Amino acid sequence: MRLRPVSEEDLDIFRRFRTEPGLIGLDWTGFKDAREPARQFAVDGFLGPDGGRLMVEDDQLTAGYVAWSRRDFGNPATTGCWEIGIALLPDWRGRGLGWRAQAVLCDYLFTHTPVQRIQAGTHPENIAEQKSLVKAGFRLDGVIRACEFRAGRWRDGHLYSRLRDDPAPEHGSPVP
Ligand SMILES: CC(C)(COP(=O)(O)OP(=O)(O)OC[C@H]1O[C@@H](n2cnc3c(N)ncnc32)[C@H](O)[C@@H]1OP(=O)(O)O)[C@@H](O)C(=O)NCCC(=O)NCCS
Repeated sequence: MRLRPVSEEDLDIFRRFRTEPGLIGLDWTGFKDAREPARQFAVDGFLGPDGGRLMVEDDQLTAGYVAWSRRDFGNPATTGCWEIGIALLPDWRGRGLGWRAQAVLCDYLFTHTPVQRIQAGTHPENIAEQKSLVKAGFRLDGVIRACEFRAGRWRDGHLYSRLRDDPAPEHGSPVP
């Protein structure tokens, strides 16, 4: 498993996640503009100062992507952390890639940026992601009540975090 930058050929995967109902899993919130990924790619190649994306590759095949964006609790100069996310294509789920990709992304972000905290939110029913995050070294911070409107009603979320000094799992993949 390795993480690599987004290339133009990957844009089709991002378009599919935005236009094929349910392909992205529980994060499906209706159709989104399929042209947006190309616009963002033209701006910064999905490697901007406030966030980015890397593709998840296994055996030289593209399995999905990981993403990160800046989150602040008050003063951005002193409280900034990253929030990460992931989406694998259905054929690649359940093979141990999800937790590894998120563990490698944490190592990558802790290596190249000075943040103290990386967080990730997920859904109460997303057991695969909850287990993946724990295997990737995250701990449950708590339940965030009614934080998102999804599938017809307001729903709770689960917030996880991994701190710079938390024990890092052995994932056996290169940290780019
Ligand atoms: C969520 C996701 C990233 C998990 O990655 P994955 O590669 O499928 O999961 P892994 O193979 O790394 O498995 C991690 C753990 O979850 C468990 N798991 C995997 N799929 C599961 C499922 N469908 N139900 C319950 N547990 C599951 C595994 O058994 C493993 O736990 P274990 O070591 O105790 O056995 C991936 O399934 C995905 O991209 N799903 C769609 C998008 C999504 O939900 N993204 C997260 C949004 S918050």
